[in-house]
Amino acid sequence: MCGIVGILGQAPAATRIIEALRRLEYRGYDSAGIATLGADGIERRRAAGKIANLAGILASEPLPGNTGIGHTRWATHGKPTTDNAHPHATEKVAIVHNGIIENYRELRARLIARGRNFASDTDSEVIAHLITAHMEDGAAPIAAAEAAIAGLEGAFAIACIFAGSDDLMFGARRGSPLVVGVGQSEMFLGSDAIALFPFTDRVIYLEEGDSVALGRDKVVIKDKAGREAARATVTVQGAAAAEKGNYRHFMLKEIHEQPETIGRTVAALLDTVNEKVRAPEFPDVHLDRIGQLALVACGTAHYACRIAEYWLEQIARIPVECDIASEFRYRSPVPGTDSAALFVSQSGETADTLAALRFVRESGIKAISVLNVPQSSMWRETDAILPTHAGPEIGVASTKAFTAQLTALAAFTVALGRAHGTVSPETERALCHALIALPRAVAEALREERHIADLAAELSRAKSALFLGRGAYYPLALEGALKLKEITYIHAEGCAAGELKHGPIALVDEKIPVIVLAPKDHLFEKTMSNVEEVAARGGRIILISDEAGHAASAGLTARRITIPTCHPLIGPIVAAIPVQLIAYYTAVHLGTDVDQPRNLAKSVTVE
Ligand code: G6P
Repeated sequence: MCGIVGILGQAPAATRIIEALRRLEYRGYDSAGIATLGADGIERRRAAGKIANLAGILASEPLPGNTGIGHTRWATHGKPTTDNAHPHATEKVAIVHNGIIENYRELRARLIARGRNFASDTDSEVIAHLITAHMEDGAAPIAAAEAAIAGLEGAFAIACIFAGSDDLMFGARRGSPLVVGVGQSEMFLGSDAIALFPFTDRVIYLEEGDSVALGRDKVVIKDKAGREAARATVTVQGAAAAEKGNYRHFMLKEIHEQPETIGRTVAALLDTVNEKVRAPEFPDVHLDRIGQLALVACGTAHYACRIAEYWLEQIARIPVECDIASEFRYRSPVPGTDSAALFVSQSGETADTLAALRFVRESGIKAISVLNVPQSSMWRETDAILPTHAGPEIGVASTKAFTAQLTALAAFTVALGRAHGTVSPETERALCHALIALPRAVAEALREERHIADLAAELSRAKSALFLGRGAYYPLALEGALKLKEITYIHAEGCAAGELKHGPIALVDEKIPVIVLAPKDHLFEKTMSNVEEVAARGGRIILISDEAGHAASAGLTARRITIPTCHPLIGPIVAAIPVQLIAYYTAVHLGTDVDQPRNLAKSVTVE
């Protein structure tokens, strides 16, 4: 993944690049670096670890110049050391790269044979040397950069500056996102528009295969065939959402935003006055012709699919197969003539999900995508878009995007059921009524925050935790375990309550907290039998349920977390709130880096 930024500015570049990089840190935070153009050519500062380390170095050793590039890294090739940190530079050019250069070994060998000396273990450094080689052979900077990228295989977004050319920057994207920011006699490049918000809200989204040559007052874009291409400049919104406000962490802010973000998603997808779903406007996809659906995503978005699988089969009566994007393509799925595929992604950039989407479309199957980031790669490539309206999500652990995805998937289920005649007008009204009540129910669930914060002290002493659920609460249990692992580093497993006895029960002793997700529904009694099995072995049970569920389980549970009584459709979305708060407060208690947990990144643009 990695985040990249470039500035051709009217003010010193380095401090501005730091500001932009902080906004990109969600893409990776293993190391960071900046290169600028000073009177003596390219100058660099780089540091292992987070941007704060780089900022510290810059404070004592500032960088001159109004032109520069910066990078925050999520290591793929080479350890996260200072030498491997970007920018990589020669005497002529400095580059930053997001992605993987697959033919770097061969290129590196060729360049070494030519006499070029490499200073890092990265795949990226070949780009700098390749451009330099073309310049040595007489090419002008942009022509050299264009020739270099023509020789690269793999995925990349890159930005380059050239020694002696203060009004010139080159950028290119193939497989990784890149936007141009247009200022007042200033130009910017960034991995996303959020990074550029401090400088401009006017951006040009480069298309797949585009390259760009920038001057302070000039943008020349070429498409993948090398022809000059016109791309629209658009004004983007959402700058405020990228600020932490008074919250201690983005994750906490994003958890609290959920009544609003779910409300926005509901308002966009439902006619709330008449309690009907708005038929999604998919010119190329006809809902009544979808006979089976493949749901494909990664991480938390995959768990949203796993929950939706229950809804789609129970309510819309459509056969569903659900898969992880990195597996889907490689298991040679056998679609039917009436198959469609549904992709879910917050970023719209996840490499595995994007590759699965391309694979599906190449097979002639229609792709519907549930996406949060407008103009992302998947947004541009899918047949139909179901937007979530969560706004920018900065915390690496997904919260508000997850519940917005679930909300959109619930509305989609109703629309699909209506198109297939499995949802009657009365049922549609009842389901829409439930969705309209969702923001309020989520706000109510947030009232358990203090109680959960107290409980977290106890959880933080655990070495391992189990999450149990049945039905749609089973995938939520998986998500609960993922959330806890991601930000607390406590080992956790999610398990179907009925499956416990087939293995995971061996983990149960008096030290392991067992978090049970079970409102008082038709599966409640069955889950309680499994809870009895845990209690009999001394397990410490934390029950997330409604008042009726707590009353019915009195005596069995060590701790109770209450969620409001609600319609079964929205229950798993409401129960996601305590699951998120458990992970968050346990992490706070342990003092881990909540918004940027170790080894993770928010937008995973490598396979
Ligand atoms: C990363 C993030 C997860 C996210 C997953 C899928 O692993 O850390 O929070 O769920 O990618 O991301 P997407 O943007 O496709 O939803």
